Amino acid sequence: MKKSLLCLGAIGLQLLTAQLVNAQSKTAIVGAGKAVDPYNYAIVKTAEFKNGSVSCAHPLASMVGASIMKQGGNAFDAAIAVQFALAVVYPAAGNIGGGGFLVARTKEGKNISIDFRETAPGKATKDMYLDKDGNAITKLSKLGALANGVPGTVAGAFEILKYAKLPISTLIQPAIDIAEFGFVISEKEAKGLNGTKESFVKNSTMPSAYVKETIWKTGDTLVNKDLAETLKRIRDNGQKGFYEGKTAQLIVDEMNRGNGIISLQDLKDYKAKSRTALQFDYKGYTIIGMPPPSSGGIIIWQMMKMIENRNIAQYGFQSPKAVQLMIEVERRAYADRAEHLGDPDFWKVPMKTLSDNTYLAKRMEDYDSTKATPSKDIKAGTIHESNETTHISIFDKEGNMVSVTTTLNGGYGNRTVIGGAGFIMNNEMDDFSVKPGTPNMFGALGGTANAIEPHKRMLSSMSPTLVLKNNKPYIVAGTPGGTTIPTSVFQTLVNMLEFNMNAEDAVNKPKFHHQWMPDQVDFEPTFNKDTKTALEAMGYKMTPRAQLGRTEVIRILPDGKKETAADKRGDDSVAGY
Ligand code: GLY
Repeated sequence: MKKSLLCLGAIGLQLLTAQLVNAQSKTAIVGAGKAVDPYNYAIVKTAEFKNGSVSCAHPLASMVGASIMKQGGNAFDAAIAVQFALAVVYPAAGNIGGGGFLVARTKEGKNISIDFRETAPGKATKDMYLDKDGNAITKLSKLGALANGVPGTVAGAFEILKYAKLPISTLIQPAIDIAEFGFVISEKEAKGLNGTKESFVKNSTMPSAYVKETIWKTGDTLVNKDLAETLKRIRDNGQKGFYEGKTAQLIVDEMNRGNGIISLQDLKDYKAKSRTALQFDYKGYTIIGMPPPSSGGIIIWQMMKMIENRNIAQYGFQSPKAVQLMIEVERRAYADRAEHLGDPDFWKVPMKTLSDNTYLAKRMEDYDSTKATPSKDIKAGTIHESNETTHISIFDKEGNMVSVTTTLNGGYGNRTVIGGAGFIMNNEMDDFSVKPGTPNMFGALGGTANAIEPHKRMLSSMSPTLVLKNNKPYIVAGTPGGTTIPTSVFQTLVNMLEFNMNAEDAVNKPKFHHQWMPDQVDFEPTFNKDTKTALEAMGYKMTPRAQLGRTEVIRILPDGKKETAADKRGDDSVAGY
């Protein structure tokens, strides 16, 4: 087995040892054969596995997923267990207070897509974030209880359970144990919690496990008893253990003490929805993605189809010619996103036209391979008929492939921890267009298609994606990153399908991003300098950005092994057997 290990740093290990004096009796508490030790673990960036494999944002969650598959669970079981574990070990984005999407293909070849996106509360209004003069108060859609939509993650887990083999009690127990007995935090987590302390205090009405007197240090143990009790109520009472009863009351109490508007009825009425996954061909590969209310699947479809006839492989990886083409297709797809995409239950999304080859060819008619097309000259196509997230990729030994992306939206969501329940709420309301022409936290614009309405789902960019080769499972992929998600997935696919990269390179090579407005190209620090200079000469505004995406990819090799890669950009880690 090829393996590259990146362990916690030396300081982390020292502090970890100090913690273990108290934690000795509680080591290796989790999973089949007690295989997961929350006090002593390492980050594994790439590996090949014969049977099941998982790649996600935290090593403990990946290990929980592998352990569930070893116990006889399939990829759907693992997805549920990983999601609950992430809600404990990765509070910045793992969640039960947020929402997400699943795209899967069963071993029988059936596509599945589950929408557990948050909804606007019943009392939400189109103008709820405007002052009396009609100006957007964008802070209100980002921080505090008014920013949260009705969470969908727990309902999503129970929808996924229909395809699983093990009971919820088995799948959620690892998360309960880790919340109850604690886990050792990494340097990145310590930094994240310290950086958010003030905001947690300001936007929550009661103390929580995430805030302590002294600063968090690498190797500290994070124990969250309130969250353990919340998870036990889900274990014992199912979906109602979250959307009704004590937890629902604790959510509404927090709303009442803060400035939130989620009601008991909103929670009781929340439903995850099955959707029809998008599917299209690209040079003989089959790509399967998430339909609206995520924009991800359709944007990736448009971008792939706009490059399909241009032989990008011959241009060379990240050559000026290849990057310039990809920027221009990104620009055009995102212009369509801003105008045409929204919750399909509230807005007629012109999917047929947006994915039509003739329409897409027309979108490229004004493409000039020698210079930038200014975004002000690119309007959405005319149609006559809509940062912090986390991704899980899983393949099991039976042949089920599962891709799940979930989110709190911003890092640590709206910074409101539900008093007595120990979990962080989302700030997903900011993904609506709070006012036409006012950018959201990702700089994205929107209009009527994505305006706020009670019970409507806000437009997303999340792009859980699958690829088949010769109609057989080939790639599971996805990433966090707000509006940069579709471009990161697009580039990962192009890296693998056109430039023949392995999973590790496809994930870790520098990425770039254009989203129509603002009219600029974001690029990562290791992006090719000569290409950057050439693009500037063609009229592109090049804007450095520390990081684009944290992509998790699994690819099936010709010998059937699962080549599994976790992004180098975070604590992301793989596990399998
Ligand atoms: N909150 C990020 C997204 O859904 O796109």
